[in-house]
Amino acid sequence: MSETNFVLTDCHVATMLPGCDAYGAIVDGAIAIREGRIAWTGPGADLPTRLRDEATVLRLDGRWITPALIDPHTHLVFAGTRTREFEARRKGASYAEIAAAGGGILSTVRATRDASEDELVALAAARLELLARDGAGLVEIKSGYGLDQETEFKMLRAARSAGVKANVRVRTTYLGLHALPEEWRDDRSGYVTTVCEDVLPALAAARLADSVDAFCEAGAFTPDEVARFFDAARRLGFKTKLHADQLSDGGGAALAARYGALSADHIEYTSEAGVAAMAAAGTVAVLLPGAYYTLRETQCPPVAALRAASVPIALASDLNPGTSPITSLLTILNMGVTLFGLSPEEALAGLTREAARALGMQTETGTLEAGKRADIAVWDIDHPAELSYWLGRRLCHRRFLGDGPYQ
Ligand code: NIG
Ligand code: FE
Repeated sequence: MSETNFVLTDCHVATMLPGCDAYGAIVDGAIAIREGRIAWTGPGADLPTRLRDEATVLRLDGRWITPALIDPHTHLVFAGTRTREFEARRKGASYAEIAAAGGGILSTVRATRDASEDELVALAAARLELLARDGAGLVEIKSGYGLDQETEFKMLRAARSAGVKANVRVRTTYLGLHALPEEWRDDRSGYVTTVCEDVLPALAAARLADSVDAFCEAGAFTPDEVARFFDAARRLGFKTKLHADQLSDGGGAALAARYGALSADHIEYTSEAGVAAMAAAGTVAVLLPGAYYTLRETQCPPVAALRAASVPIALASDLNPGTSPITSLLTILNMGVTLFGLSPEEALAGLTREAARALGMQTETGTLEAGKRADIAVWDIDHPAELSYWLGRRLCHRRFLGDGPYQ
């Protein structure tokens, strides 16, 4: 018996290993955990007695286990809501019109600048707890509602503190180019310059972010502005991600690929050429059906082309107050299948194996195999497709998170 060595038995294991049978499933399986890492998985009957004897045995009564879910794109540190905007949109105003009138992202910026760090931690931790209730073990959180150094840093610190408070691992992303802040309204280029020359070096010194991101879109930032930002970020060693081609084809996915970005996200309007560039660069497609649903978009991302080009497809909640006020990962799983035409297995891979890849963490987590972190979700289901089949049910029985920091 041991405090750090566990064996989970009497369970079915969806390893999510690629190239296996459906879900990489081991029916009547077992999994051994030593000091936070997976030591062994296989059929329960083959569990080495040595592993069983040295461990605390937990019987899971025929439940399924999967890798703990990973949400690779959220904006869940924010104050206030956008309910007035929600009402205005029902009366016909578009997302772009609201943003152009100083609402949208900038209204959340005002509320987030006014909030204390403690308030942001409490708000964010409550949202993380909701994601964890659906099996999340690792969540990416972007800044981007501060747009001045002080508030951006406050958000990134709050993101990490919220992760500790809610017992969810967090990766942070500096979303420096999200919207042009009001005080820079007449000097776009000056804003991009201060982000590149002042904020990015300070961010690197403070080690507050794991990667950087930008919103490349008409009404947000141009490909040239994003390229300046990515050049500066790359010189400082940051990995890149991009909000690309969400509302129009601005060549965002190809731009992301040119910088070897971890991911290009949204990509509803990405062309075949953009998909080919992503494939060549190994850039992951992060699909965000929650924003597509909330904005009542009709253009789906090019799923068939992504598949044909073998671009890894991840899913994410995009949890944010404007376009995706959605705190349930199982809802996102269902939307990935029902709205975007993913198979239930592709969708689950999108919130596990491919989500890990979208964060550059595929050697650490995202599948259940020896050597990876023991980040595991246990489910009250009879088949893994149930995870995307039900809407609004609580299916997660519990989570295990291997301890210690990610490398
Ligand atoms: O991913 N597209 C830009 N960023 C967010 C929306 C942020 C907001 O509206 O507050 C997104 O959809
Ligand atoms: Fe987003």
